[in-house]
Amino acid sequence: MGDFLSAYSIQNWLESCPQGYLEDTVYGHEAGATESPMVMDNEVLRQDAIRTTVQLVVGERCALAASSGLINAAPDEASKRFLATQTLDEARHVEIFTQRLYDLGVAKDQLGSVINEYANPNLVKFAEVLLEKVDKKDFVAGVVGQNLILEGMAFTVFEMLHAFNSSLNPKFGQILSGTIADERRHVGFGENRIGALIKQYPERKPDVERMQKEMSYHMLATFADAFQQAQNAIVAGQAASAEALAAQGDTSEREWHGANMDNASAEELEAVLADTVLKEFKTRLSRVGITYQTPATP
Ligand SMILES: [Fe+2]
Ligand SMILES: [Fe+2]
Repeated sequence: MGDFLSAYSIQNWLESCPQGYLEDTVYGHEAGATESPMVMDNEVLRQDAIRTTVQLVVGERCALAASSGLINAAPDEASKRFLATQTLDEARHVEIFTQRLYDLGVAKDQLGSVINEYANPNLVKFAEVLLEKVDKKDFVAGVVGQNLILEGMAFTVFEMLHAFNSSLNPKFGQILSGTIADERRHVGFGENRIGALIKQYPERKPDVERMQKEMSYHMLATFADAFQQAQNAIVAGQAASAEALAAQGDTSEREWHGANMDNASAEELEAVLADTVLKEFKTRLSRVGITYQTPATP
């Protein structure tokens, strides 16, 4: 536990995160940075950015409820302290993505109705499966569901959004980079802590594997909806990017896991995202002694 204690201590969190990569940021980005005019002046892209950001708020609210709920379910003091830092990270993620909704033009008194209108019902189900485990104070399932499944998904989605947005919307790119650094720490904790617990409580495996299968199913259904709804915005975004990059004399290709972000279809992008996340699940779960269960195709 020695390395574990220092790597996931509050002291380490303070030095690397608030006093490290978040220093001088405002809501996760450089002071004064604004949303790209490419998004603000294009109604299709602005609406799509609002819809996407709502899903991020929904996911982060779930992570906030899960990480705070798991503090009192944790069997050891070091995990409780790490989860306290994670709780603040997740609250901050909720705040910065909510702030992004305001920056995108959502009125403060409309926040609740915009979230209700746009929240993907499959993502809501995904969250419910996890929060049910947390409510039962099931620490093993809760950590797998939150730190490996929810955050493994979030991490990869953020990376894809970063690949798609960072060159032309640096403000959103900065928010995502900081969030990715946080999620990397959370996933690392999950892997480190849960391996030992699965060895200690092997009888918990079937239940955890069922949860993974169910959450993976809802995740794939979320992706299917999201890419279907984003079809026009993806084409519009690619056209706007091509124009802006050409104007800057930039001819480099933006590639992510083999997909060309400048001309891939919504279908191709969905396939590459699903494939990347599921491969990650397999790798991470096998490292902690859990057998990945293939979900049904939504
Ligand atoms: Fe988060
Ligand atoms: Fe997280």
